Amino acid sequence: MTQKPMVEESFDTTLDDALAGHTSATTTGLGHVVTTDSIDTSHGPILYLEDVTVSFDGFRALNKLTLSIETGELRCVIGPNGAGKTTMMDVITGKTKLDSGSVFLGQSIDLTRLNEPQIAMTGVGRKFQKPSVFEQHPVWENLELAMRLPHEDSRGWYASLRARLTSEARERIESTLALLHLEPEAYRQAGELSHGQKQRLEIGMLLMQRPQLLLLDEPAAGMTDDETMQLAELLDRLRGTCSMMVVEHDMEFVAALSGEHGRVTVMAEGSVLAEGTLDAVKRNETVIESYLGR
Ligand SMILES: Nc1ncnc2c1ncn2[C@@H]1O[C@H](COP(=O)(O)OP(=O)(O)OP(=O)(O)O)[C@@H](O)[C@H]1O
Ligand SMILES: [Mg+2]
Repeated sequence: MTQKPMVEESFDTTLDDALAGHTSATTTGLGHVVTTDSIDTSHGPILYLEDVTVSFDGFRALNKLTLSIETGELRCVIGPNGAGKTTMMDVITGKTKLDSGSVFLGQSIDLTRLNEPQIAMTGVGRKFQKPSVFEQHPVWENLELAMRLPHEDSRGWYASLRARLTSEARERIESTLALLHLEPEAYRQAGELSHGQKQRLEIGMLLMQRPQLLLLDEPAAGMTDDETMQLAELLDRLRGTCSMMVVEHDMEFVAALSGEHGRVTVMAEGSVLAEGTLDAVKRNETVIESYLGR
C-alpha cells in the first residue's frame, strides 16, 4: 500500500480555538441575515467567478479567472503547483481579497462584499488539507459540536451547548456517521482515528452545518490508496446533497470522482487552461505541455 506524502502534520484543535473562531456575526454588510435559504440557484450556477484577479506584490496569482459551478455539480480542479487553485478557494471563502472581478454565490449573493464568517454562514464549507478535528473528543461529539456551531443563533455557543439534543439532531448525527462509514468508531476519541478516518470525520463536521457548496483542497493528500477510494465513495454519496469543488493532484482520485462525463477544470497561471471531461482535457495539447507532460 503506498502512502502519499503529506505536507502538514495533524494537529489538535481545542474547543477554545473553535469558540474563538466562531463569533456570532449574523448580518451581512447589506444589513440582512444570510441563511442558506437565501441562495438563489433557480437560474443557473451555485458559484460564478468572473475575471477574478489577485496580485501578491505585483505577481498575479489569479489572472482574470472565470469559472462557474452548476448547482449539484461535483467539479474537480487540477493544475500544476502555483496555478492559483488554493488562492481561488481563499477568494471564494473571503480569506483573500481580490483586486478586481466578481464572485457570486447563486444569482444574488455577492461574496466579495462579505467577510469570512459571513461567507461561511451563506453555506460555503471549506475543507483544508490537514484534518482539523477535536482530537480529545469522541467522534460522536465532534459531529455534535459541529452541528451546534452558531448560525443565526445569537445566543452563541455556550447557550446552545447546554441545550439538550433533540431526537431529530440525534438522528442526523447517526445518519452522518453511517454516511461517513464511521459508525464503529462513534465513541472512540477522534485523535485515535487513522488519517483517512479523520478526513472523513471533518467532512462530516462540515456537513453538520448543511453546506450548499463544499470546497475541498487536496482532500486525498497523505491518504493510502484504500483511504483515497473510500473518500471518493463518500464524495460520490454526497452528490445531490451539496455542490462540491475538489482540488486534487491525484489523477486516479479525479478519475473516480469525475467518471466519464463529469467536468474537470485545468488551471494554470491563475486562469482556466481547459475544461471538459477528464479524457478530453488529458488529450488537450496545451494541458499536456503545461501540466501532464509528454
Ligand atoms: N499570501 C501569499 N503571498 C504571496 N504569494 C502567494 C500567497 N499565496 C499564494 N501565493 C503565490 O500565488 C501562486 C499561487 O499559489 P496557490 O497556493 O494558489 O497555488 P496552487 O495551485 O494551490 O498550488 P499547489 O498545487 O502547490 O497547492 C503561487 O506562486 C504562490 O507562491
Ligand atoms: Mg494549493
